[in-house]
Amino acid sequence: MKYAKNILETIGNTPLVQLNSVTKKVDALVLAKVETFNPGNSVKDRMALKMIEDAEADGRLKPGGTIIEGTSGNTGMGLALAAIVKGYKCIFVISDKQSKEKMDILRAVGAEVIVCPTNVEPDDPRSYYSVSKRLGSETPNSWYVNQYDNPSNAIAHYEQTGPEIWEQTDGKITHFVVGVGTGGTVSGTAKFLKEKNPNIKIWGVDTYGSVFKKYHETGIFDENEIYPYITEGIGEDILPKNVDFSLIDGFTKVTDKDAAVYTRKIAKEEGIFVGNSAGSAVKGLLQLKEHFIKDDVVVVLFHDHGSRYVGKMFNDDWMKERGFLEDDIKTAADLIKNHVEKPLVTAQTEELVSHAIERMKEFKISQLPVKDAEGLVGSVDETDLLRSFISDKKIADKPIKDIMGKPYPIVKKSAKLEVISKLISKENEAVLVDLENGNHHIITKYDIISAI
Ligand SMILES: Cc1ncc(COP(=O)(O)O)c(C=O)c1O
Repeated sequence: MKYAKNILETIGNTPLVQLNSVTKKVDALVLAKVETFNPGNSVKDRMALKMIEDAEADGRLKPGGTIIEGTSGNTGMGLALAAIVKGYKCIFVISDKQSKEKMDILRAVGAEVIVCPTNVEPDDPRSYYSVSKRLGSETPNSWYVNQYDNPSNAIAHYEQTGPEIWEQTDGKITHFVVGVGTGGTVSGTAKFLKEKNPNIKIWGVDTYGSVFKKYHETGIFDENEIYPYITEGIGEDILPKNVDFSLIDGFTKVTDKDAAVYTRKIAKEEGIFVGNSAGSAVKGLLQLKEHFIKDDVVVVLFHDHGSRYVGKMFNDDWMKERGFLEDDIKTAADLIKNHVEKPLVTAQTEELVSHAIERMKEFKISQLPVKDAEGLVGSVDETDLLRSFISDKKIADKPIKDIMGKPYPIVKKSAKLEVISKLISKENEAVLVDLENGNHHIITKYDIISAI
């Protein structure tokens, strides 16, 4: 019989999977180390167990003890699984920007979860660093894990992740691309790989709002670089001891939007359902593509599972609210689809200019197509009105036909966005779409700007 004696024995030996679509613009062979195959669905199971075993070995963690940690969820999951098997209690401190799913998952595996505000300084007593440290000193028989500075974090990757990648690539790996948070994954894996072959290049993926890239390039810890960001798991406003900058050849920063968009692409195009930092890592890899040549073997690490982001990056409303998901607008029909039922507001040639002004005020619009018995014969807009008023103060009592401009061009529903935007100019404030039922709908400059 072949079985694991407990769930902890299933940690590690995750697969290396070729990426075929999202990185097709890259010349090299790109392979993803998919860490979601760990029992807690993330790479963090490796270091969580290692940190516990090392703490048990030197007496920092005693039987029946309480494990305390500030964790964005994944480390907590790994610690909780180990705590269940080994008989410890867990208290986790988590920042309020983390997904609700992550918090619920930790509670599901028996942990107590305390939520702290994100937008406070690290040394603020409310920050999740400060709260976890305080709980560590106040709770009897407790052990504060501190994954940021705990050397067992990087050692886990030196002992497992590095050797697995080396073996799986038959020693042919040339580049390793990975998101950096506590630094454990990058530093431990890099140390092993560089000992095997010092020519292997290590690329850290950072996020805007984090200090890593600038610190690596200049040695300056620049507080101006720090601001709240959405990407989860990577980037920091501190310098964790586990980030060994000497092992990292370069950093690239990825925006929140790109990270979110690429998280979705990996799921849709590769069938690999992974988390937000995997999106950052793939976009980072694409940003670095000039560094890779044909025979290179580039390994990128996917830290965690997509299920933890179903209410965020995998939710269309969440994406749209942040402007991360653009509607696919290509034609006139797309531009008018949200207001096509609204009737076209027009004026008649014989009506007075004052009537046109009233109507524009009532409907809060800046232009009107003008009709006569034959159909659409002209247009008035705010610019025409102003120009006419300056030369003739009594313009309000004149018929519209005296001041109207050319009729707006008419396009088909299938007209392309580029064609429509070319038709709109200073002289021509709008275009009309033929609805093929005798009616028309208007597209203004404003509609085009909001669409793009
Ligand atoms: C989803 C996710 N991605 C990336 C990282 C970064 O890994 P490391 O802390 O080993 O640098 C983490 C760590 O918290 C994570 O949870």
